[in-house]
Amino acid sequence: ESMDRVNYSVVSEFVLIGLSNSWEMNLFLFWFFLVFYVGIILGNLFIVFTVIIDSHLHSPMYFLLANLSLLDLGLSSTTVPKMISDLLTNCNVISFPKCMTQIFFIHVMGGVEMVLLIAMAYDRYTAICKPLHYLSVMSRKMCVSFVVAAWMVEIIHAVSQFVFVINLPFCGPDKVDSFYCDFPRIMKLACVDTYKLEFVIIANSGFISMATFFSLIISYIFILVTVWKRSSGDLSKAFVTLSAHITVVILFFMPCMFLYVWPFPTTSLDKYFFIVDFAITPVLNPAIYTLRNKDMRVAMKDWANRFQFCV
Ligand SMILES: *[C@@H]1O[C@H](CO)[C@@H](O)[C@H](O)[C@H]1NC(C)=O
Repeated sequence: ESMDRVNYSVVSEFVLIGLSNSWEMNLFLFWFFLVFYVGIILGNLFIVFTVIIDSHLHSPMYFLLANLSLLDLGLSSTTVPKMISDLLTNCNVISFPKCMTQIFFIHVMGGVEMVLLIAMAYDRYTAICKPLHYLSVMSRKMCVSFVVAAWMVEIIHAVSQFVFVINLPFCGPDKVDSFYCDFPRIMKLACVDTYKLEFVIIANSGFISMATFFSLIISYIFILVTVWKRSSGDLSKAFVTLSAHITVVILFFMPCMFLYVWPFPTTSLDKYFFIVDFAITPVLNPAIYTLRNKDMRVAMKDWANRFQFCV
C-alpha cells in the first residue's frame, strides 16, 4: 500500500500552459489583463464605497449590488493576478495546494455570484411586477438571508466536489491546459479513470450553472413582458437596461455551460471563454449597474463635487 502512495504522489505542482506561447500575444495579454484588472479594482471598490457612504443608497438593491461588486473583485482575484505575474515572469508553475485553493475559491465565489444575480433579478422582478409588495418582500432580513444562504450553499457545493478530487492520484502528467486550475482540467491529469467523477461535476457544477441560468432568463422575460405590457414613455430605456443585464448574464454563464455541462473531455477552446468570466464581466457589471442607474449617477456627481471642494 505505502509503495502505491509514494508512486502516486509524484506530482506536487502543475504547469499552467496558459493562453498562448507567442511572445507578442503574451505581451498583449499582459497589458489586456493588467488594464482590465485595474478597471475591476477601481470600478468595484467605487461601488462598494459609494453604497456604504451614501445613505440614499442604503436599500436592498444597492446592498446586493455592493455584494456583487465585492464578489466580482474576489472572483477575478482568484486567477487574474497570478495570470499577470505568470506572463511577466514566464513562470507558470502552481503548487498542488495553491491549485486546490484556487479551485475552491473559484467555485465558492462563482457560485455566490450566481445566487446574487438571482437575488438581484428577483429584487427587480418584485420592484417592477409587484411594486405594492416590494417593501415587505425585499426586506433587510430577506436580503441578509439571501447573502448568508448563498455563501452556505456554495461552500457546501465546493466542498462536496472537493472531497472527490482532493485524493485523486497524480502520477505524471502535470500540464494544465489553461491559465488557472479547475476540476475538469485537473481530473484529466489523474492516473485513474475519472469518468464517474465527470458525472459528479456535471451533476453539481453543471446543474447549478444551468438551473441558475434558466431561472435568470425566465425572470428577465417576466420583467420584460411586464414592462412591455405597461408600455409608457420610457419603455425603450427599460429595454436597454434589461438587455444589458441579460447580455452580461449570457456572457457570464456561457463559459460555465461549456466547461461543466458539455460532455467531457473539454476542448482547449473553452479556456479562452473564461477570460470573459474573470476579466470582462467583472468590469461590465459595475459599468451597467452604475452608468445606467440614476441614483448611482447622482452619487457619482456628489463624489465629483466633494472632490473638487477638497482640491
Ligand atoms: C451585503 O449584503 C448584506 C445583506 O443585505 C448587507 O448587510 C451588506 O452591507 C452588504 N455588503 C456591502 C459591502 O454592502
